[in-house]
Amino acid sequence: MQTVVITGGTDGLGRGLALHYLRQGARVLAVGSTPAKGEALLAQAATIAAADRAVFLKADLTSVSAARDLVARIESTCASVDKLVLCAQRYRLFGARAVTREGFEHSFALAYLSRYVLSHGLRKALEATQQPVIMNVGTPGVPLGRIHWDDLQLTRRYSGFKSTLQSFRANDLLGVAFAALHADTPIRYVGYHPGVVSTGMPAHLPQPLRACTKAAFTVLATSVPKAVTPMVRLLDEPPAERFTAHRATRRLPLKGQAFDQDAALRLHGLTHDLINAV
Ligand SMILES: NC(=O)c1ccc[n+]([C@@H]2O[C@H](COP(=O)([O-])OP(=O)(O)OC[C@H]3O[C@@H](n4cnc5c(N)ncnc54)[C@H](OP(=O)(O)O)[C@@H]3O)[C@@H](O)[C@H]2O)c1
Repeated sequence: MQTVVITGGTDGLGRGLALHYLRQGARVLAVGSTPAKGEALLAQAATIAAADRAVFLKADLTSVSAARDLVARIESTCASVDKLVLCAQRYRLFGARAVTREGFEHSFALAYLSRYVLSHGLRKALEATQQPVIMNVGTPGVPLGRIHWDDLQLTRRYSGFKSTLQSFRANDLLGVAFAALHADTPIRYVGYHPGVVSTGMPAHLPQPLRACTKAAFTVLATSVPKAVTPMVRLLDEPPAERFTAHRATRRLPLKGQAFDQDAALRLHGLTHDLINAV
């Protein structure tokens, strides 16, 4: 039986994938921070005769130690992991800079550090399977934002947009570095932009942006079940290359700063040192 680990597996795209793989007979470990959402997923799993294959793991992925603990919990219950899907995200586009208990800027911690810890931490469990794949869901190919090398935590001139965009660019480089560092790995690392998808994301935006985004979603956005189809195709039949980037059904060229290998390895080294102290 396949094991699929999905961070952010209790809502939006992650939940759509969780239900798909439960219907396919896989064991699904869905990670989220809200128990009620986890319980709702488990209740739905019971309606499709998948109660015994659905697991909710509560974790606050703004914390590096919680992400490490999650790796240990997964490894202690599963001998191997076939697919790791990284969807956990909470946009903080407005308001003051927030810092986690471990001292990291919030978006950097949740959207990037947790994905770094899980990608590298679950490598051995993934490599124990036939066709392992990591899908990092973000916005590869979008030419917005950059890595603020001199101030990764954005202690100076912070803005929520800047930090959100930086975390997206950091995830592009995470995939590039992972493939570069593990030349012999069977793991296929897929950076994935789903396009605009109608999920629970706007619920956490402040008004009037929340209402505007919801209205825009009704006109522009794809539904979760529709958006999940090309994701499943890539997860089930990953490309031959160790790292690829995609926007919905389109494969993206790996050119420019976003996918630069030197930058990727530099960020990897800095991240390693940053979280080593935790
Ligand atoms: N929707 C779009 O149009 C779109 C477009 C481009 C890229 N994406 C990317 O697709 C991914 C999924 O987005 P989505 O729209 O499906 O999001 P969503 O519906 O808002 O779901 C986010 C998920 O992340 C979890 N999460 C949030 N904070 C967490 C924390 N501190 N610890 C653990 N889990 C946490 C949430 O669970 P809890 O609430 O329980 O914590 C939820 O399961 C994201 O990476 C996003 O950037 C989405």
